[in-house]
Amino acid sequence: MSKSLPVSFNKLYSELAEWWPLFSAPADYEAEAAVFRKLILENARMSVKTMLELGSGGGNNTLFLKKDFRMTLVDLSPEMLKVSEELNPDCEHLQGDMRSVRLNREFDAVFIHDAIMYMLSENDLQQAIESAYLHCRNGGVVLLAPDCTRENYQPGTSKGGHDGDAGSVRYLEWNHAPDPNDTTCKMEFAIMIRKKGDATRVYHDTHTFGLFPRDTWISLLKDTGFTVTTFQDQFDRELFIARKPEK
Ligand SMILES: C[S@@+](CC[C@H](N)C(=O)[O-])C[C@H]1O[C@@H](n2cnc3c(N)ncnc32)[C@H](O)[C@@H]1O
Repeated sequence: MSKSLPVSFNKLYSELAEWWPLFSAPADYEAEAAVFRKLILENARMSVKTMLELGSGGGNNTLFLKKDFRMTLVDLSPEMLKVSEELNPDCEHLQGDMRSVRLNREFDAVFIHDAIMYMLSENDLQQAIESAYLHCRNGGVVLLAPDCTRENYQPGTSKGGHDGDAGSVRYLEWNHAPDPNDTTCKMEFAIMIRKKGDATRVYHDTHTFGLFPRDTWISLLKDTGFTVTTFQDQFDRELFIARKPEK
């Protein structure tokens, strides 16, 4: 049975979703989206025209990826899909769970960014990989970009936030050390929001992330039928590039 929490109940992806662009600004994704684009184009055995993004959130990566690919976006949260639709009105948006979604269509590439961190058990991760496989054309490529694996996980704190026409957001992010007997870690957010003309409000939001050894990632991908390589990106993340055989 899946251990996953209903993440759409995380405040950040429900009641606070409208503030996402001031929490995590689209412009900040340009450099990493360029790396994702390059890896996908270099690794596919075909010219890549269509891409499915699972767990597409506010659509910040898509803002850049859609310049080269026709994007279809799937997310669990209707509120986040609405945010993404405002940023990417030219893309197809669908509600679904990356573990169970079945569009009965294939894409030249499938991409899962940080949303893959919400897979809390090996079973969850296996199901998300299976969905990616089923939606990927033969000869196509799946790119998984987790924030970390168990080996390169670093506990710590960071801060961020932006100002905009609607108001201002600032947050503190606190990443707890994982339980050595578990496949999860906790990410706590203290989020301050000041709507223009209003007093500042403070919210606490706890997110649970999955944490898996790199060998688990690789063996789950290989067992599903992919050939796998990895790539160390500019943020010291290990990205998993999974090719579906041409057949
Ligand atoms: C950090 S946000 C993604 C932000 C995104 N990278 C962007 O470019 O804006 C994580 C997203 O994962 C989604 N998510 C979490 N679990 C999911 C699941 N099982 N299936 C689909 N989406 C999921 C959440 O609703 C949330 O929108």
